[in-house]
Amino acid sequence: MSGNEIKMKIIRLALLGDSAVGKTSIISTFLNFEFNEDFISTIGWDKRKKNIKLENGKDIDLSIWDTAGQERFQSVALKVIRKAQGIVVVFDLTKRETFNSVVNWLNIINENFNEVTIVLFGNKCDCEKREVTTEEATEFAQRKNIPYFETSAKKNINIEAGFSKIANDIYKRHNKIEKAITLDNKGKVKEESSCCGGGKNKKKEKKENKKVESEQNEN
Ligand code: GTP
Repeated sequence: MSGNEIKMKIIRLALLGDSAVGKTSIISTFLNFEFNEDFISTIGWDKRKKNIKLENGKDIDLSIWDTAGQERFQSVALKVIRKAQGIVVVFDLTKRETFNSVVNWLNIINENFNEVTIVLFGNKCDCEKREVTTEEATEFAQRKNIPYFETSAKKNINIEAGFSKIANDIYKRHNKIEKAITLDNKGKVKEESSCCGGGKNKKKEKKENKKVESEQNEN
């Protein structure tokens, strides 16, 4: 880890989407549990943990909330997951109405979260019978500026890639925000930007200016 990075121990994620799209199965596959063909609808919410390695080599814990897709559990689930930094919105590629619902889920996220990173999973891509095409879902995701993954919890396709994407994006965003508003102990902004090394570069720049000044004076 570089000295410039802000420590982050845990990333909190939640899965949202209609009932039976495969949220619980996605988490089970990600945790290396056996895939279950039976459908046991989640009641309320559930929480799991997994340690992963980020692109920068740093180990981090993911805390993952599984929520119930059924509407009657929605308000409770939303309260529980209010501290989520990232949300995986899931729909079922074999059920058009679950794709149509994605807009509603995005509205719910908009209304309940200030800063949250989102990825979209089109699940059950192992199934031949499809009601949503790759092109359509990709175009929708691009319009919304959300990364999109076609996943299969059953065949373990793109599950790890999708979780890795959202975790890395959250980590990067967290570092940018924190560095942009790093304050000193008197409450003054110490570093305004994480870009280009921020304060360290400014110090170096000052030193170099002084050196040039003194060289000019000597001449
Ligand atoms: P709620 O708890 O009601 O919100 O449902 P959920 O979104 O958690 O769905 P769940 O994971 O329980 O899966 C519903 C059904 O879809 C189960 O019968 C799963 O076996 C099946 N399923 C889940 N993922 C896949 C997949 O990738 N491919 C296929 N073919 N079936 C899947």
